[in-house]
Amino acid sequence: ARVGVSRPHESAELHVSGSATYCDDIPELAGTLHCALGLSPVAAGRLLESDLAAVRAMPGVVRVLTAADIPGENNCGSVLHDDPILCDGEIRFLGQPVFAVIAHTREQARRAAALAKTVLKVEAAEPVLTPRQAHEKQQYVVPPMNLVRSTSGRDESGIRAAIASAPRRLTGSLDVGGQEQFYLEGQISYALPKEGGGMHVHCSTQHPSEMQFLVAHALGVRAHAVLVECRRMGGGFGGKESQSAQFACIAAIAARLLDRPVKLRLDRDDDFLITGRRHGFWYEYDVGYDDDGRILGVALQLVSHAGHSADLSAAVMTRAICHFDNAYWLPEVAMHGFCAKTNTQSNTAFRGFGGPQGAICIEYILDGIARSLGRDALAVRRANFYGVGENNVTPYRQTVSDNIIAPLVGQLVASSNYAARREEIAAFNAGSEVLKKGLALTPVKFGISFNVKHLNQAGALVHVYLDGSILVNHGGTEMGQGLNTKVAQVVAHELGVNFGRVRVSATDTSKVANTSATAASTGSDLNGKAAQDAAQKIRQRLAAHVAQQHGARIEDVRFANDQVTVAGKTLDFSAVVASAYLERVQLWSDGFYATPGLSWDAKTMTGHPFYYYAYGAAVSEVVVDTLTGEWKLLRADLLHDVGQSLNPAIDIGQIEGGFIQGMGWLTMEELVWHPKSGLLMTHAPSTYKIPTANDCPPTFNVRLFEGRNAEDSIHRSKAVGEPPLLLPFSVFFAIRDAIAAAGAPGCVPPLQAPATSEAILRAITAVQAAA
Ligand code: MTE
Ligand code: MOS
Repeated sequence: ARVGVSRPHESAELHVSGSATYCDDIPELAGTLHCALGLSPVAAGRLLESDLAAVRAMPGVVRVLTAADIPGENNCGSVLHDDPILCDGEIRFLGQPVFAVIAHTREQARRAAALAKTVLKVEAAEPVLTPRQAHEKQQYVVPPMNLVRSTSGRDESGIRAAIASAPRRLTGSLDVGGQEQFYLEGQISYALPKEGGGMHVHCSTQHPSEMQFLVAHALGVRAHAVLVECRRMGGGFGGKESQSAQFACIAAIAARLLDRPVKLRLDRDDDFLITGRRHGFWYEYDVGYDDDGRILGVALQLVSHAGHSADLSAAVMTRAICHFDNAYWLPEVAMHGFCAKTNTQSNTAFRGFGGPQGAICIEYILDGIARSLGRDALAVRRANFYGVGENNVTPYRQTVSDNIIAPLVGQLVASSNYAARREEIAAFNAGSEVLKKGLALTPVKFGISFNVKHLNQAGALVHVYLDGSILVNHGGTEMGQGLNTKVAQVVAHELGVNFGRVRVSATDTSKVANTSATAASTGSDLNGKAAQDAAQKIRQRLAAHVAQQHGARIEDVRFANDQVTVAGKTLDFSAVVASAYLERVQLWSDGFYATPGLSWDAKTMTGHPFYYYAYGAAVSEVVVDTLTGEWKLLRADLLHDVGQSLNPAIDIGQIEGGFIQGMGWLTMEELVWHPKSGLLMTHAPSTYKIPTANDCPPTFNVRLFEGRNAEDSIHRSKAVGEPPLLLPFSVFFAIRDAIAAAGAPGCVPPLQAPATSEAILRAITAVQAAA
């Protein structure tokens, strides 16, 4: 029953037996039609009057929709209204949906939609395809963001002067690629028209409430006419936070216009071509430091690859800027962030939400400083750690009051045998011409909460039925991360019943209203607290009921092991429920939670945006073949802080998954757009490689750091969804370490991410040429 115990994911058996219901498994209603999208064949220009008669004439086609058919607003943009559902004349990227084909079968719809290549008449223009081009033209999706902080009262030019006059200086640039979410279940929506203009949409989405609002706007109806439901996703990873909207809207529009159920399930190639992903970043840094490698000042320019519209790019850049510090105290900083507007897919949330893109850059800088000084990078990292009670204010002015990075890293250094292995590797490299080994330890500090204060709220409903079974509904969504399991554990704990009594139902906008996205790793923090609140209210009522019945005090009633003890008697939980019902006690309750103590001023980029920080560290050891650029992760040791875990097995699964996913981002997943046409050429698993089981290291030690959240989070646990994605920085820097062993002492390999074999060879060539 308890929290803090490992138990399988509540749907584990359904997952592994293939009987878990995803959107495409919902039995189709009679008359269901299928939708496929006609995509722009060029990246920029204007759409001319096109004759779609040939598309309409294709077998099975019932209707072809264009922007002109949209009853309400032609927008699925979540923050700014700059995201057309269907092309409104201006072509924004190659792959942009221009028309929707509705046909009797999915196959028929796809065949007809494929005619887009030939029937669409366009006046093509020269596309802007890279962040560098966009930055040159000062073409951004949102205004630039600036965060300047000096602990000595300098202004920006003062900071730059301090950097210039520091004992040592490092300047350089870094490119880090984007990443496809590659959820196993692609984007899908199934829209069912209801009486009186209503619409019920089954949608694979992390954000049912936003889907509800955007569908309502597109249909030109009120929110109460639209119900969005999500039982579970086959993965979201941020890709279904905002970008499920386009498909929900199109399916709903078609269902409304035809008054038939309409399903839109994207083919994987179309999913790649239409939706955005993790923002690639490009950085220019100028750093002043002392002889111990301590950073005295940093000037940083960050340019993110936003794509054609704003989507969540501003929030991603904000989180990047708020995570550049990672675990380090930076006394003087001047950061300028630019979200480059290009003629490509609109980039969006992906696990870490900009945090990884901020933190990787300071790690790159520290690694470079250590190499320039000829010192172990771990020593330089430690010299820069946030202090306890001093040197503990972040650039955005939040005080780091729960810092455990030094003891955590200390434990990992010991348990991974870091020092001895460092020597072994040096000895190995001295005697090995072609194969070089590398070792790196990197820390993580990750801020938990949405940077936007109002999003940090959640609601839940708990129903206790007469047989003593319990149904929970909360505003969060299940995407495989185990949220429903954790929330059910919290409710079972509160009511003192076995886990098996509690069932969590599908997320449904008609049950809990105005929910936030399940994102920013806050799912169990927010919804766990809301469900606890609801369960506590019911327990209070039950306690009052039995206390009165047995002449006892409410405080003396105990709920445990499916039983209620009162005045020396032990009653069955179900019997207490039944008797409470007869006394007309309310057996269901809502619950609500709002994270306390948060503030954020987006203009000055200062405040207290995070409730607390989650910490972690990892040590990775790799071997690199310096002739081919091939590499292998030999061993990884992870120590991660989840506070007091709600479910250690699930948390370890999240840590392992986050680590391997982040490793894929930094080492093998490469996005290539054609430099002229703007076609995303890596739009299928044939050309886009994500890690497989074979890429997991043979020695993979994953442990939870013993501790509890300093804040009053749900049972003192900490969020775990995203922070572990930063642990595989250690893999990237271990590769850089191995490359350095192929060059002259003190060389700083110009390795870029992803560290594909080609990138590794380029860096090896550079350090060898310099030697
Ligand atoms: N784990 C699985 N299995 N599938 C997912 O899609 N998404 C990640 C993370 N872990 C994801 C996952 C992302 S991006 C976030 S923000 C969190 O889960 C969201 O869930 P939580 O807040 O409940 O941790
Ligand atoms: Mo996660 S990127 O916040 O959905």
